[in-house]
Amino acid sequence: MTDDGTDGDREALDLLIRGFQVSRMLRLVADLGLADKIPKDGSRNVGDLATACAVLASPLLRVLRALAAFGVFRIGADGSVSHSPRSVLLRTDQPNSLHHGARFWTAPGSWKAWGVLDAALAGDTPHQAAWNMSRFQYLREHTDEARNFDAFMANFPDHRHQALAASYDFSGAKLIIDIGGGNGEALRRILARFPAPRGLVFDRDDVVAAIAPEARSSGRIDVQGGSFLDLVPEGADIYLLVRVLHDWSDDDCIRILRNCRAAMTPSARLLIVEQILEPDPALGRPSSYLVDTQMMAMFGTARERTEAEFGELLQTSGLGLERVIETASPVWVMEVIPM
Ligand SMILES: C[S@@+](CC[C@H](N)C(=O)[O-])C[C@H]1O[C@@H](n2cnc3c(N)ncnc32)[C@H](O)[C@@H]1O
Repeated sequence: MTDDGTDGDREALDLLIRGFQVSRMLRLVADLGLADKIPKDGSRNVGDLATACAVLASPLLRVLRALAAFGVFRIGADGSVSHSPRSVLLRTDQPNSLHHGARFWTAPGSWKAWGVLDAALAGDTPHQAAWNMSRFQYLREHTDEARNFDAFMANFPDHRHQALAASYDFSGAKLIIDIGGGNGEALRRILARFPAPRGLVFDRDDVVAAIAPEARSSGRIDVQGGSFLDLVPEGADIYLLVRVLHDWSDDDCIRILRNCRAAMTPSARLLIVEQILEPDPALGRPSSYLVDTQMMAMFGTARERTEAEFGELLQTSGLGLERVIETASPVWVMEVIPM
């Protein structure tokens, strides 16, 4: 290999440079619900699909051909469209469907913030610069994107909710409170494995109001709206903070953790579920660093953290790290006790 790189490097970089085109086309087909309209083990003519989606066949075929070149869908010479192993993952009936993620990354809120990413280099928050409001205020005002965000969190490709339920013994808990628990997926997974505990999802008002009664594990899950920046409800044996702290600056994390600390009895446990950032990107997963830059684009100084950085936040907040548990997902469970 020369210093100029190989032809393979050139092609790989060229495709990375154009990655936004692929993301945008994936959102387009996900917004149309196209993957659900193609049978798992069969095919459908592009004209039929276009009619079913109320769009024109010719541009749809061009988009599908481009995606098929990346292994997403298969296109026959006769215009028939069938699933590839990758496109099946966009079906909403697949466990941990990628449908919600495909709709999320280039949805208007995120897309416009990434358009002004340079703002981060001047110390500003791109989302604020793009929309003149915070990310969570934006979600409050854009219901479709907000509910897709909740569904995306519940179906995140890291399988964190199943991994958490499988890696910790919740059998002795009477009440588990999931702080910033989104649409309740972590609690549903945990309660499905452990018959004794009840659960409470504590999240923003509009998020908990959208959790349907049938998603509350036969009445074992209650919901409460509020802000963890103000208070955390008392009474749990186990508190969860799943992928919450990475949305916040160090100062805000300390505020949230101190509120957890204030609610905890001496025997209560706090489980912080987060990725632990590998400082060397040559050793880490590319998706971890993409999430880190997404946090920068959405929230400014919010970020992924190393174990040492979590340790400092805990110490400042009157909490101590008891142990760190590896899971089948890229997330780790940090078991934390009040000091
Ligand atoms: C990255 S999501 C994680 C959701 C869920 N824990 C999971 O892992 O799927 C962060 C959550 O924090 C919630 N949140 C943001 N600000 C909040 C606040 N001030 N008080 C309570 N929840 C908040 C969001 O609504 C969202 O559900």
